[in-house]
Amino acid sequence: MIELVVNGKTRSVDVNPDMPLLWVLRDVLGLTGAKYGCGMTLCGACTVHLDGEAVRACVLPTSAAVGKKIVTIEGLSPNGTHPVQKAWVAEQVPQCGYCQPGMVMAVAALLKKKPKPSDADIDAEVTNICRCGTYARIRKAIHAAAGKA
Ligand code: FES
Ligand code: FES
Repeated sequence: MIELVVNGKTRSVDVNPDMPLLWVLRDVLGLTGAKYGCGMTLCGACTVHLDGEAVRACVLPTSAAVGKKIVTIEGLSPNGTHPVQKAWVAEQVPQCGYCQPGMVMAVAALLKKKPKPSDADIDAEVTNICRCGTYARIRKAIHAAAGKA
């Protein structure tokens, strides 16, 4: 058994320690907010937080998350009113929505580190891919949430 702390709760999972964390979150724990996109650390659809840092869970072995605080989109805010989520709604960012949980988690981690990021900071730190091309709205929403997260 492996013990993981996910969204503030300790969960015991009977999995191979090499299994990617995304599999455990989605298939074992039923937390389907983080998405599978490329499976190669390229798209960011699977982004969750590990001790506050944005990580791509599709390649991270579950063993690497032991003893750390894992937060998924489901645990970002108890009622879905994190400043990034509010800005996402106000700016009507999502189109199909598939990439958006990963985007929100990447942005929430960025704003913890840099409360008022420049466009260059955003380009450097939020490298997630959106097939629908919501990038302009994402940028607008990040600036709207800046200083509030
Ligand atoms: S699914 Fe993890 S980066 Fe694409
Ligand atoms: S909103 Fe559709 S992939 Fe980003």
